[in-house]
Amino acid sequence: MTKSLFRSELAAFKPYVQGKPIEAVRREYGLDRIEKLASNENQFGPSPLAVKAIEDELGELIFYPESYPFDLMNELAEYLDVPKENICVGSGGEGLLWQIAMTFINPGDEIIVSDPTFDVYRISTSLMGASTVQVPLDGQRFDIGAMLAAVNERTKIVYLCSPNNPTGHIASSEEIDKLVSGLPDDVVLILDEAYYELAAIADDYPKHNERIPLTRPNTIVLRSHSKTYGLAGVRFGYIITSPDIASRVHMVGPTFKLNRLAIAAARGALRDTEYRDMYVRENAAARDALLAYYKTKGWTSFPSYSNFVWTDTGLDSQRFFEELQRRGVIIRPGFLWGEKWKTYFRISTGTPEQMQYFIDKTENVLKNW
Ligand SMILES: Cc1ncc(COP(=O)(O)O)c(C=O)c1O
Repeated sequence: MTKSLFRSELAAFKPYVQGKPIEAVRREYGLDRIEKLASNENQFGPSPLAVKAIEDELGELIFYPESYPFDLMNELAEYLDVPKENICVGSGGEGLLWQIAMTFINPGDEIIVSDPTFDVYRISTSLMGASTVQVPLDGQRFDIGAMLAAVNERTKIVYLCSPNNPTGHIASSEEIDKLVSGLPDDVVLILDEAYYELAAIADDYPKHNERIPLTRPNTIVLRSHSKTYGLAGVRFGYIITSPDIASRVHMVGPTFKLNRLAIAAARGALRDTEYRDMYVRENAAARDALLAYYKTKGWTSFPSYSNFVWTDTGLDSQRFFEELQRRGVIIRPGFLWGEKWKTYFRISTGTPEQMQYFIDKTENVLKNW
């Protein structure tokens, strides 16, 4: 008998499916212009202060980075107004989600998520040999009551993504209060705020969720520089949690989670309030332009607090995606989130020119449908 070389969880493991790269679409269709609006990337270029910080760091590349980036931790603590012991930095929000799975999840545990939501919660959990309980939305809101009712003695983590990917809707402060007060203390609550700065301009977005872990220690608030500062290619994110969880998540995984360029860029971006405010403004304008266009089509969208919009066209999303792709616009079709969402699609915001390009191509698709 030969022994199995691979971990048993790998047998059924399905990794995250990244959208098709621009280069592949260009090769396939021979197009000059392609707009990739499928991965919620910031289309306004990276933060200039982050770029400058990267340039200044280039001469240091022969040295290993600090595994605990001291100056960055101090600056983040000041920026957030929480003690640095409550913060842990990582290789993007996604890197931290994997560290979180490795820190908490045993085989046989359960996690609870909304359906639909960001798939990395389920994927990282499955590799740890645990299962995911998906709780459907209640219309265009989270069903907090049903999420609480799904908790049992196996529940290790509840993930709440706000703004939620792919829908873009948020949890209100009443809903967050209900979840925080209804969860047993020994269940970890993860509040994924990867799009925080884009949502925080809305009056009804609950501000200062980063303070929840100070009173409910088994809570993790996750944020990222990928979207707000145009640094998805650099990989930097952080969590705010209890000092105990922060130190344990920090020790899991490779020693050097952040390279020198990511540390430098993260510090530069934190100072770049001008860039951040510009992007928040431009993003809101792009969202309004999309929603105004969808209204003329009679399409319904979720209320978006993010840099993407989730819309029901009533059309088959796989075909809609393919027709747009062959015309040079890449979106994310709803069927990827299951049968229920097969007439939806998600598109990321962009510059006014990109939004107009998408509208022109969509008109062409509809004319030839
Ligand atoms: C909800 C959510 N959380 C986390 C992430 C991970 O972001 P990053 O790893 O780029 O920080 C994403 C990326 O799209 C996301 O949509």
